[in-house]
Amino acid sequence: MKRVIGDTDLEVFPIGLGAMPMSLRGRPSEEQAKAVILTALEAGVDFIDTANCYCIDNSDFGHNERLVAGVVRNSSNSARVIIATKGGLTRPQGRWETDGRPESLRSACEQSLESLGVETIDLYQYHAPDTAVPFTESIGELGRLREEGKIANVGLSNVEQHHIKIARKIVPIASVQNKCNVLYKKDLANGLLDYCGVEGITYIPYSPVGGGHGHRRLSGVEALSTIAHEHDSSVYCIALAWLLHKGNHVLPIPGASRVASIEDSVKAVDIKLSEEEVLSLDALSE
Ligand SMILES: NC(=O)c1ccc[n+]([C@@H]2O[C@H](COP(=O)([O-])OP(=O)(O)OC[C@H]3O[C@@H](n4cnc5c(N)ncnc54)[C@H](OP(=O)(O)O)[C@@H]3O)[C@@H](O)[C@H]2O)c1
Repeated sequence: MKRVIGDTDLEVFPIGLGAMPMSLRGRPSEEQAKAVILTALEAGVDFIDTANCYCIDNSDFGHNERLVAGVVRNSSNSARVIIATKGGLTRPQGRWETDGRPESLRSACEQSLESLGVETIDLYQYHAPDTAVPFTESIGELGRLREEGKIANVGLSNVEQHHIKIARKIVPIASVQNKCNVLYKKDLANGLLDYCGVEGITYIPYSPVGGGHGHRRLSGVEALSTIAHEHDSSVYCIALAWLLHKGNHVLPIPGASRVASIEDSVKAVDIKLSEEEVLSLDALSE
């Protein structure tokens, strides 16, 4: 079943592509990265998650946005693909630092418009609250950028439920992107994932198969291996299928730097887990 972005009429394939691994240190060749993105598009993926700060350091800021936009623009599917990006972090010497000052968000957004080669960003996500800046001021600037037409929809990332409630008083919130996977269930335990479902907010689990290094742990989890074997599938697909079972508002964005990874991940949409299987996966923890 397709996923809808917030209360818009934007409908997307239930699995998106997380583009981050294609721009961090140890990234694949440009040729390989292009093949990953094209494979995703050919498989039906029409939602790609990027960020201005997916790069090695500030000297190649915007690397991932330029990469994704360049491949999408030259593909036959370009018209229907949603590229969701983020602002609010910087990468001095490769570190990850927050900068939620209104003027910084404005210039980051304008830089993203240029990197993506668009006049309006479909979904612009505030990457993470900056504790040095009042949250309402950061969100207020995103509201102004939306009013000016530079952003079509505003999303949040790395937030708690109280952030969402505060932000919604300032601007409609279309999506929330937080870490969630079969071994990391904070937003299921605290009700945030269900809250998003009730409020018509798309929930975008990041690191949905455990993260850049963490994903390797999944193959050692017996319950996942057993269920994967039953479905003639991979532990990654089962982990993604479990997320899809958590609600029609859930849009996982598995990362990939290899073609084989995204080729496998999209198959999760065809997996129907039994109630018993869901319960056994619900019981897993870190
Ligand atoms: N908002 C935030 O703060 C935040 C934080 C982290 C990530 N994100 C976003 O969320 C996306 C996903 O998170 P993530 O990349 O950290 O972690 P992830 O999707 O859990 O795992 C990524 C790694 O798992 C491997 N993998 C994925 N699917 C696979 C499959 N079916 N079979 C085998 N291996 C598979 C990939 O390996 P290969 O590289 O070898 O293909 C990939 O590098 C990111 O790309 C990014 O867009 C957002």
